[in-house]
Amino acid sequence: MKKKSLRDLPPQALDGKRALTRVDFNVPIKNGKITDDTRLRASLPTIKYLRDKGARVVLLSHLGRPKGGPDPQFSLKQIVPEFEKLLGAPVEFIPDPANGAATTRRMPRGGVALVENTRFWPGEEKNDPDLAKTFATLGDLYVNDAFGSAHRAHSSTEAVAHLLKPAVSGFLMERELEYLGQLLENPKRPFIAVLGGAKISGKIDVIRSLLPKVDELLIGGAMACTFFRALGLEVGDSLVEPDRLDLARDLLATSGKKLILPRGAVIAPSLERAKDSKPVSADSIPKGWAVFDIDEPTQHDFRARLVRARTIFWNGPMGVFETPPFDAGTRAIANALVEAGKKGAVTVVGGGDSVAAVAGMEDKLTHVSTGGGASLEFLEGKELPGVAALEDK
Ligand code: 3PG
Ligand code: MG
Repeated sequence: MKKKSLRDLPPQALDGKRALTRVDFNVPIKNGKITDDTRLRASLPTIKYLRDKGARVVLLSHLGRPKGGPDPQFSLKQIVPEFEKLLGAPVEFIPDPANGAATTRRMPRGGVALVENTRFWPGEEKNDPDLAKTFATLGDLYVNDAFGSAHRAHSSTEAVAHLLKPAVSGFLMERELEYLGQLLENPKRPFIAVLGGAKISGKIDVIRSLLPKVDELLIGGAMACTFFRALGLEVGDSLVEPDRLDLARDLLATSGKKLILPRGAVIAPSLERAKDSKPVSADSIPKGWAVFDIDEPTQHDFRARLVRARTIFWNGPMGVFETPPFDAGTRAIANALVEAGKKGAVTVVGGGDSVAAVAGMEDKLTHVSTGGGASLEFLEGKELPGVAALEDK
């Protein structure tokens, strides 16, 4: 069922109203500096629209995973200056939602306020209805634009949506659901998924869900080693999940034609000894060495497949891309997506690590999701609680 969006509301539903808006401002921060502001920028179209329509915008978000109450390290106050710059307007900070209602009422039309980290209050992650009531005192209607948090049933994403009317999706949420939804509904073919990352365990449900839908599923990252081992190959000291070998065998037996494994790998004695790295074919990984990337023949093979695709979904790096030269495989995939996009393919990148791998290339891709866990759960076919709670169209 499609969900109502901001765009479906008449102007009088917004003018002068307090729009309690859940955003995902869970951005990476190092030494007090935001290292990636993608999520802040992604929230701007919704906020701008609300302001233009005369609403007072009250923003709710979590930041990090604080445990046991307020912790300055996770305070949203530290993102205010950066966010004001991006927005081009002042942002009022509300330190405690329990006594923020007065502030939200005296805000001018078009004013913007940001409430302190929702996870500073113990009820948030329990989807506590009382905390949701407190949040609800800050708004007249509810907008959820936090796709990255939509897989969490928390007070600020789920319970509060039942307390304010209307409760609709923002433009980022709408866009995410549309592009990811297309992958599951009617992808243009050939449809190829590329999955990487360390573990099969975190991706198994998405592999299972995508296999019947894709024409090919390309596997990279350390995950490939569990498949190599399942085929009886030596993998040296590579990361392998012994408890997933049966599963890998089962997938190879039932979908062997669609599952495309790397032809070879770039190996090294250890990550620290990257200088000694060398390429080998998948059937000649020596004992005492470990796999850290896909090799060049695999890059060429994957590229050749991807440039023929009309729909591509990619999640997870092909190697340890934070440590050159093991970034080469991941970069090759990023470039292949851009190349396929130029030929008209729809290219969708899932959140998390893969987003860092395509930094600066966003405008050459159809859609880069702001959700890591959320995009995977969506593609697994699960209902996201933060979406389910919104009004149907
Ligand atoms: C994310 O970054 O994955 C989302 O903001 C959700 O955060 P969480 O994984 O801590 O719930
Ligand atoms: Mg997460």
